[in-house]
Amino acid sequence: MNSKIVLITGANSGIGKATAIQLAQQGKTIVLVCRSQQRGEAAMKDIIAASSNQNVYLHLCDLSSHDSIKECTQSIRNKFDYIDVLINNAGAIFGSHQLTEDGLEQSFGLNHMGYFLFTHYVLDLIKAGSSKRIVNVSSLAHKMVTVIPWGDLQLCNMKYSQLKAYSLSKLYNIFFTKYLARKLLDENTGITVNCLHPGTIYSGFGASGTKFFSNLVKVGGPLLAKPSSGAKTSVFLATSDKVEKVTGQYFAHRRKAWITSKAKDMKNAERLWERSLQLSGIEDYGVVS
Ligand SMILES: NC(=O)c1ccc[n+]([C@@H]2O[C@H](COP(=O)([O-])OP(=O)(O)OC[C@H]3O[C@@H](n4cnc5c(N)ncnc54)[C@H](OP(=O)(O)O)[C@@H]3O)[C@@H](O)[C@H]2O)c1
Repeated sequence: MNSKIVLITGANSGIGKATAIQLAQQGKTIVLVCRSQQRGEAAMKDIIAASSNQNVYLHLCDLSSHDSIKECTQSIRNKFDYIDVLINNAGAIFGSHQLTEDGLEQSFGLNHMGYFLFTHYVLDLIKAGSSKRIVNVSSLAHKMVTVIPWGDLQLCNMKYSQLKAYSLSKLYNIFFTKYLARKLLDENTGITVNCLHPGTIYSGFGASGTKFFSNLVKVGGPLLAKPSSGAKTSVFLATSDKVEKVTGQYFAHRRKAWITSKAKDMKNAERLWERSLQLSGIEDYGVVS
């Protein structure tokens, strides 16, 4: 296998699936990471049909579970010697406060720790690839954050708000991007890490929000842009020569975009990094024994 390998999480729906189609059309080998065999296989069929590219593979993972991520990445390691590009894309908004099996608030567990852990377990495969890119799908929603609840990251001691939990998790995507980019630059790995806002897109997004929110998306969604449009910045960051050396940046519409002063603050990024290491029990990030 010598084509570029791109791994996309949450690739059975919306922006992730559209990203997989566009990259498969460019002849890349695509690894889909999805939680449902049925939805994953249906997406794989659609991606192959839309691209006439047979090099599409499916691996199953619940990205809100540390054990599942460990198991899935082990099966990926058994099959592939390298990954050129990792696109951390799977994410959701949650209508009520619930904890994952790891005891994390769902938005934190899936949207932030899903990216943090998955990347840890495949970092050596990305080092072995030739493109060496990590792309994290964040959101404009990070701008809604007023206070970072450092004393209550799992939001257990406050009135739960789906928008607060979601926007915090998307701010954490920027912290993760910036911290990891700096670390990998300092270590001379050649790996770049960037993040993006995909646009406001009509996808499966919102279905796990409150009933009011999911109904609102159903009614207003068709007026929004399509997933094929939402995939463009992910595809750009995954493939364009223009960003070959760019790292630690936030993009929208395939251009560097403005982020809040909170999002730029490397002390915040470092603080989240340390807390994420503690929560996951990882001692040496990117080193899998
Ligand atoms: N849509 C927008 O306007 C918008 C704007 C800004 C940012 N974003 C971001 O874009 C990314 C993609 O969202 P989307 O709009 O394409 O929504 P989507 O259509 O709902 O896609 C989300 C994907 O994540 C997967 N996923 C959810 N929970 C998972 C879990 N526990 N384990 C594994 N996979 C899981 C979903 O799988 P299932 O089908 O199994 O649920 C689905 O494939 C997200 O990170 C979102 O925050 C979206």
